[in-house]
Order: sequence, then C-alpha cells, then structure tokens
Amino acid sequence: SWTMKGFIDEAVETIRKQVGEEGRVICGLSGGVDSSVAALLLHRAIGPRLQCIFVDNGVLRQGERAQVEALFVDRFHVPLKTVDARERFLSKLAGVTDPEQKRKIIGREFIAVFEEASRDVQDAGFLAQGTLYPDVIESVSWKGPSVTIKSHHNVGGLPETMKLKLVEPLRELFKDEVRALGRELGLPDEMVSRQPFPGPGLAIRVLGEVNEKRLDLVRRADAIVQEEVHKAGLYKEVWQAFAVLLPVQSVGVMGDERTYESTCVLRAVTSVDGMTADWARIPYPILEKISSRITNEVRGINRVVYDISSKPPATIEWE
Ligand code: XMP
Repeated sequence: SWTMKGFIDEAVETIRKQVGEEGRVICGLSGGVDSSVAALLLHRAIGPRLQCIFVDNGVLRQGERAQVEALFVDRFHVPLKTVDARERFLSKLAGVTDPEQKRKIIGREFIAVFEEASRDVQDAGFLAQGTLYPDVIESVSWKGPSVTIKSHHNVGGLPETMKLKLVEPLRELFKDEVRALGRELGLPDEMVSRQPFPGPGLAIRVLGEVNEKRLDLVRRADAIVQEEVHKAGLYKEVWQAFAVLLPVQSVGVMGDERTYESTCVLRAVTSVDGMTADWARIPYPILEKISSRITNEVRGINRVVYDISSKPPATIEWE
C-alpha cells in the first residue's frame, strides 16, 4: 500500500542516518515475525552491513532452524550466523522443573551465547531489535523474562564493553502493521501470519523435566498439530495451537500389549492479543485426526486430551 511504502522509505532513511555509512548492525533472529521484519528492513537499508544471528537453543519446533536458514540465506541473501547451542541449553536445563527457573536459564544462556557470537562480528556498533509499540509501553506482560534483550536506551543484559547502540525500527508499530510491513517487504505469508511462539520454546511445553527424549515427543506431536491445523485451514483462525507434554503416564493398549506411556495435551485458543483467550472450537473430525495421528505416530504418547479452559483463569501456556 502507499502508506506502507512511505513508511519503508522513511524507515530506511532513518536507519541509514542512525547507522551511518560504515556502521555494522547485529540482529538476533528468533524465527518470529517481529525480528524477521526488522531484519528485512535493516537489510534493505544497509545490505551486507547487517549480520543476523540465530541461536538454536535446542527447544525449537521441528524444522524451525531450517526454515529460518532457507528464508534468510537462500531467499533473501541476508548474512546469517546460526549458533548451535543445543547442548549448552539442555545441560543447563537438566533436572529443572520449575517454569520460572526454565525461563531464567533460557534467558540467561541466550544473552551469553548471543554476546559470544556478537563478539566475532567485527566493528559492530549497533544491535537491532524487533521491539513493537506494545513492548515499548510495556502493556505486554509475560510470566517471566523473554529472550528479547529489552531496554529503551541502552542494551541491558549485554556487557557494557560491547557498547552497542539500539536500532528499533518497529517501535512505533502494532502487530498488524508489522505484518503488513512484512508482506510489503516480500516476507512469505507463512512467516507473516506465524502464530506466536514463546521465547522459552518447547521447554515450557514439556511439563516437568526437559530432556532430549521428552522434547522429541512434544516436538513430533506439535509438528502433527501444526500440519493438521494448516490442512484444515484453521491456522489463521486460531491464535495459537500446539501440543504440551504432561508428566503423567497412563495405561493404554497396543495390540495385545498393555502400555504405560505419556499424555499429550492439545491446546488451541482464539484471542485478539493473548491477554485473554477462549479455547478454540476445533471441529471433532480435526480433533480426531490429530489425536489418532499423535497416538499412532509418536511412540511414547498413548493418550491425547483437549484443553477446554479459557484465559482467565487458565493461561494459554501450561507453564
Ligand atoms: P500465557 O500463557 O501467559 O501466554 O497466557 C500469553 C502469550 O505469551 C506467550 N508467552 C511467552 N512469550 N516468553 C515469550 O516470549 C515467555 O516466557 C512467554 N510465556 C508466555 C504465550 O505463548 C502467549 O502467546
């Protein structure tokens, strides 16, 4: 649209002015809409002087890292460094069951890993973030620290010696405007209309202890949920749909064998902003398909339950 084009021209101009002729900018990609749009806008403004960093924290969804690489490297030719920090995060998470503790660990490790990766970027003077207007006015409150390094004037979390100045090209925009901007910048629809995914990732969707085995279960169940919700044409109608692995085993039967395996929750909600939410009335045939696929395809899960709680008093996530 005309206004979006106008916004882009203006934003590009502002970025160039702030960053100068030589300045290099680091941008953390999360796989979500905001950081993706911020990165593309930066790339339009300063091209190869942008260095994106994507941290694989081991609690990503299936195919997420490959999708980010395909999009930014193959399609947009944006300089991207992927840091494989899976072992580091998982070893720190070992034995931890408290949700707040999980968030703290992931937030702390993210900053450490990101800082290390940033040090290798020569002459970087700026850090770009996909901060939106609601983040600025802090109307969005999560249950814990997000992995975004938030600060309004300087970069809290990163060591003082790095002296990176913040570039926040989306800080006057609302989510729907960011989506429109992403479309205008050529971001594919599947990224533009991405459902929110929490920074602590699958770690807060594995209730109880987080380990590779349990992550693998929730990741495979979640991939089935994503696929079936897409196939049913419901992806944009629901705010979020995902799988949660419970620390509960129950008796089941397979052939003539008795099983004693994990329970998986299917959580799907409608919402406008995540602050309140209603459980989504997913049609029975879709529920049936998801349940039978999970119990048949994911060995280790023998039962699927549907969460029919709204927020409040429940929350969208289980942790
Ligand atoms: P709740 O569970 O509080 O979630 O109803 C509201 C929205 O926030 C997301 N969420 C998070 N996002 N870091 C994030 O980046 C977090 O720690 C976090 N906790 C919840 C959740 O997915 C939902 O969209």
